[in-house]
Amino acid sequence: MARIATVFLSTGLQGTSVVKALLKDGTFKPRAVTRNVNSDAARAMADFGCEVVEAGFDDKEAIKKAVTGAECVFLVTYPFGSNVPEVTQGQNVIDASKEAGVKFMVLSSLPSVSEVSKGNYTKVAHYDDKATVQKYLEASGLSCASVVPGAFLENILRGFLNCPFLKTETGYLMHTMERPGSKSLQTWTGRDMGPAVTALFTQYTSRLSEIDKQTFTLGCCRATVEETAAELAKGLGKPVEIKRIGPIGYEAVDQMVLRLARLRRPGQALEALGVKVGTIEEFAGLL
Ligand SMILES: NC(=O)c1ccc[n+]([C@@H]2O[C@H](COP(=O)([O-])OP(=O)(O)OC[C@H]3O[C@@H](n4cnc5c(N)ncnc54)[C@H](OP(=O)(O)O)[C@@H]3O)[C@@H](O)[C@H]2O)c1
Repeated sequence: MARIATVFLSTGLQGTSVVKALLKDGTFKPRAVTRNVNSDAARAMADFGCEVVEAGFDDKEAIKKAVTGAECVFLVTYPFGSNVPEVTQGQNVIDASKEAGVKFMVLSSLPSVSEVSKGNYTKVAHYDDKATVQKYLEASGLSCASVVPGAFLENILRGFLNCPFLKTETGYLMHTMERPGSKSLQTWTGRDMGPAVTALFTQYTSRLSEIDKQTFTLGCCRATVEETAAELAKGLGKPVEIKRIGPIGYEAVDQMVLRLARLRRPGQALEALGVKVGTIEEFAGLL
């Protein structure tokens, strides 16, 4: 019988990476979850050759169907603009997975800024809530692991938080909210999340003691924006200038930027499972 792995947020950057890596590996048959099976992104998912099912985070019955028969689940929760709080999203999927007899779950998680800052920065809900979901998962009785990415390199491509990456007459101009000298973990998410999750799915039975309830940091290096720009410039063969934009007046984001530098360091645990991550210089090929 086929081994099924259900992937939440499958049409997003992380989910798509996981679906493609699972298809390439072939051990598991991915089941892609979306809110709308008729969207272009969902149809593209079906074109990759995987089962596509519909479930919103508020629909416990649909979630139950999405995880029934699955051996593994990849869960990403969605913080902004959802009608369901992020912690409830996670709890709904974890509860349903437990009931359905799922064997192993990987959560895309983040550290709690409130905890790390000892209560000084309490507005970064999209971090704190993921950490709460992680605790809930680890107490649920399900075998599990959490993957913690750094800042997505794809934010540069996406012009995330009004920070576009522009071509100029002589090279490129990179906008950033990061402060000078502040290092943060850099993650080529689209390339590396899939292989990381696939490595965990395919090895959780043989290496359970190394994997169960462990947190795996995913990223290539800690870098300042200046260092990131220099690596991109190498890959692009042209200079990359930096333009800083200040706090945007949205506390969840402004406090996140203040704390980002301290939070995550790349670890060797995924490398030990055979995961090799891409570099910033290589990522420049996508720009
Ligand atoms: N950007 C970063 O640097 C960074 C770093 C660490 C962690 N994260 C976390 O990564 C997560 C986002 O992951 P991603 O970038 O892979 O996702 P993404 O590419 O933004 O895609 C998200 C998918 O979620 C679905 N979606 C959109 N709005 C939604 C809503 N209101 N409620 C539920 N689903 C919704 C859409 O799929 P359908 O329309 O098909 O349902 C969409 O394809 C967030 O939790 C964020 O906090 C981001």
